Parts: sequence; structure tokens; C-alpha cells
Amino acid sequence: RGKRAFIAGVADDNGYGWAIAKSLAQAGAEILVGTWVPALNIFESSLRRGKFDESRKLQDGSLFEIAKVYPLDAVYDTPEDVPEDVKANKRYAGAKNWTVKEVVESVKNDFGTIDILVHSLANGPEVSKLLSETSRKGYLAALSASSYSYISLLKHFLPIINPGGASLSLTYIASERIIPGYGGGMSSAKAALESDTRVLAFEAGRKKRIRVNTISAGPLGSRAAKAIGFIDTMIDYSYTNAPIQKELNAEEVGNTAAFLASPLASAITGAVIYVDNGLNAMGVGV
Ligand code: NAI
Repeated sequence: RGKRAFIAGVADDNGYGWAIAKSLAQAGAEILVGTWVPALNIFESSLRRGKFDESRKLQDGSLFEIAKVYPLDAVYDTPEDVPEDVKANKRYAGAKNWTVKEVVESVKNDFGTIDILVHSLANGPEVSKLLSETSRKGYLAALSASSYSYISLLKHFLPIINPGGASLSLTYIASERIIPGYGGGMSSAKAALESDTRVLAFEAGRKKRIRVNTISAGPLGSRAAKAIGFIDTMIDYSYTNAPIQKELNAEEVGNTAAFLASPLASAITGAVIYVDNGLNAMGVGV
């Protein structure tokens, strides 16, 4: 039987989540995705209307299928955690069972188990503020959406990830080097995510021989990155200064994810893997 993957954080065909879904599908995996509740309608209708057909094309010309799209808001673990105003919000009221615990229950009912878990989501409401000007609320929101969301997903999925499976997230070098503009506690959130990758690798490894890695990706003009505002500058900077002077293609991150999720990477866990044309290795811009 082929493997089954759940990818959290796919709402269009521009981001890393989509590219990872496509590479895993190309490698023969069955694809389930978790889509942020407010983005669900537009994503599903675009899928239905064929808006993504060009980017759904696999090497043999066929279009990859998403077996099921689950509404998800990864900042809420259970229905009891959802505040009244969110429950009443019309963008949420139309969807059901989108807290982490409920999504995992639905996946279990629909498919039984998965083999691969991918976390490709982040959110920091104060990302455009300096860290030193970030509010407590904004900082904790960044950590909740971008770091704890991964712990929660892994915690709830762990009982239904088959032994020998793999889990992945996406991180950014702002966790370890100063990247002005990546504010609001987002740099802190990525530092937490990378540290958690090591501890979770130990715990999931000992419990179920599941590997846990994170990909430190170079800049991509995704929807989330455009919202931060400085992505074009980062792409230009990377092109100019990286050892490999070319544009970074989301597919290169997707292919790395497919490798890390496969038996070819059977001894790799607890690692931060750079997919950034080598920019991380530079000490100065030249
Ligand atoms: P994207 O916009 O394709 O993906 C982010 C997704 O997160 C969106 O689909 C959004 O709807 C979803 N999301 C936000 N809050 C959520 C919540 N509470 N519950 C569920 N889903 C939620 O953008 P991108 O850039 O591909 O981001 C994917 C991952 O890659 C993120 O972790 C990001 O930090 C990371 N990354 C991105 C880089 C870039 O330059 N674009 C560089 C390095 C890492």
C-alpha cells in the first residue's frame, strides 16, 4: 500500500505546503490536507473550478488528487478552547470539526491511520513590528499559531501515525541569525519550532520509531510571505549572495520533504535541513 500524508497549511497553489503535497503525490502518497477555516471556501471552490489544474500536473501528465480537505484552525485544540466570538464568526460557523483534536478524529474515522505528517503553517499578527515593540499578546499568538500548533498536531496524530512514519515542519533562518523585518516574535517562534523538533524527535522516536525533522527553507513569494512585506528584497538578497545563484523553486523544498519522509532518510531525525541554495552558509553578503 502507498503511504498516506496529512499536510496542514495548504490554502492555494503558491506555498510550500502545496509543493510538498505535490512531491509526495508524485512519489505515490495519498494526500489529505488541512486548510485554515477562513480560507476553506475559496480553496475548495478554486480546486473544483480547475484553477489549480496546471499546478496539479504530475510528470506523466495526470493531475494529482487531494483525497480530502479538512477545515483546520491549529490554534485551537478542542471545541472547549474556541471563544464565543470565533464560534459565531460567519467564516467559522459554516464549517465543522476544525479543532486539532476533531480533525484527527475525522481522519481516523475516514482513513484509520497516516504515515506522514507535515506542518506548513505560521502566523504572527505583529510580524511587522520590531521584537522589542511586540506585545505579550502578539508574541504568544505567534508562538501559538507557529510553534505550539505543531506540538498539538503531533500529539494528537501520534496514536494514528504508523510506526516508521515521519513528521516534518518548515522553519526559517531568522531563528538563528538576525533577519530584520521578521518580527512580532516570529523569529522566536521558529527558534522554538527547531528546538522542539529535537525533543519531539526523541519522544516520537522512542515511542513509535517516528522521525521528526524540519526544513529551513529559503525565501518564497507565498501568500504568507507577501503579507510580511519584505519577501521580494529577501529573494533578491538570496539570489545575489547565495552560493548557488538561482531562484529557489518551491518544488525543491517539496522534493526534500519527499526524501525526508521516505525510507531513504531512515537515519535522519531531529535535524534542521537547509533548502536555501546554501545561503545559510555565507558569513557576509558578496
Ligand atoms: P502559505 O501562505 O502557503 O502557508 C501558510 C498557511 O498557513 C496558509 O495556508 C494559512 O492559511 C495557514 N494558516 C495560518 N494560520 C493557521 C491556523 N491557525 N490554522 C491552520 N492554518 C493556518 O505560506 P508559506 O510561506 O508557504 O508558509 C508555509 C511554511 O513555510 C510556514 O511555516 C512558513 O513560516 C515557512 N517558511 C516560509 C518561507 C517563505 O519565504 N515563504 C521561508 C521559510 C519558511
